[in-house]
Amino acid sequence: MQRPLTEINNYKEKHDNYENYFIPQEYMRFWNALSLDKEKADSELRVGQSRMRFNIRAVNDFLALICRRNQNNKIHDLGCGPSLMSMLSAAAFPQITSIEGSDFLSSNLNYLKTSLNSKGKEGYNYSKIIEFINSMHEKREHLSSDDYFVELNKKCQLDNILKCDLSLDDIFCGKEIQWGTYDAVVSTMTLTDAVPNEDAYKNVLMKVNQMLRKGGALCLLDLFNQSFWYPSLKTKDKLCAVNITPRFLEQCLVEAGFLIEEMRLMYFDEKHCSHGEGAVCVRATKK
Ligand SMILES: C[S@@+](CC[C@H](N)C(=O)[O-])C[C@H]1O[C@@H](n2cnc3c(N)ncnc32)[C@H](O)[C@@H]1O
Repeated sequence: MQRPLTEINNYKEKHDNYENYFIPQEYMRFWNALSLDKEKADSELRVGQSRMRFNIRAVNDFLALICRRNQNNKIHDLGCGPSLMSMLSAAAFPQITSIEGSDFLSSNLNYLKTSLNSKGKEGYNYSKIIEFINSMHEKREHLSSDDYFVELNKKCQLDNILKCDLSLDDIFCGKEIQWGTYDAVVSTMTLTDAVPNEDAYKNVLMKVNQMLRKGGALCLLDLFNQSFWYPSLKTKDKLCAVNITPRFLEQCLVEAGFLIEEMRLMYFDEKHCSHGEGAVCVRATKK
């Protein structure tokens, strides 16, 4: 029988049961917070809404910067989940020519492939997310939802969607990738919850450094004091997750061979929800 989430307090149990708790359809419903009326939403959803806006803006600004610097960029979304959010943002930049994603759960990858294959007609309805991405770019206002998917399908084949397990030393689970060739790696709302301890957190950053070409960039969006991620979790109990701080992140990134270019912080007002205390977005380049 499925154990209540509040009883899960060691990483191994969380890791081994992840697919019982992380349901792609439920997670994607949480993204609907983006279109909610702020006055009517409860505090949990209001936090969700501001975090998602923070997330989309941060990724979009990061990609815009990469594209001002280079042409023909190849990017990877590490721990992409069932969501095409970062990939759709990337799709509309002509300077991004190849898009990859990876995640731990096959259920997430299958859900994502369904959305990709059907150009958003099955799976999640991305129109609100696309509207929000569009609102940040005057020049993209002419792009319809379909155009975003046409671009994404050109740049991301189904082979570009990989399995990863960030708790392992070999994060791509034996699959050979083209190390040292990526122009950018994006990872949002994944890492603190995906690794068992601080050393594993550092290992992932070192692996990302090896993925990137020299001068390539990482956009890492992560959470402070985050509990087990589950969209409808309404508990104040903190379950296991690596408790990162800005100082810890700085040290890890430098040790992993990065130069930190920017760190944006966001603290949540509501202290009584399950989403931890705040979010951080770091932009760093491989030295
Ligand atoms: C909160 S979701 C974030 C998804 C996506 N990046 C986004 O911003 O919408 C966390 C993701 O971490 C993934 N994850 C959890 N443990 C993992 C692990 N050990 N290795 C890789 N991914 C993992 C989950 O499958 C889930 O898709």
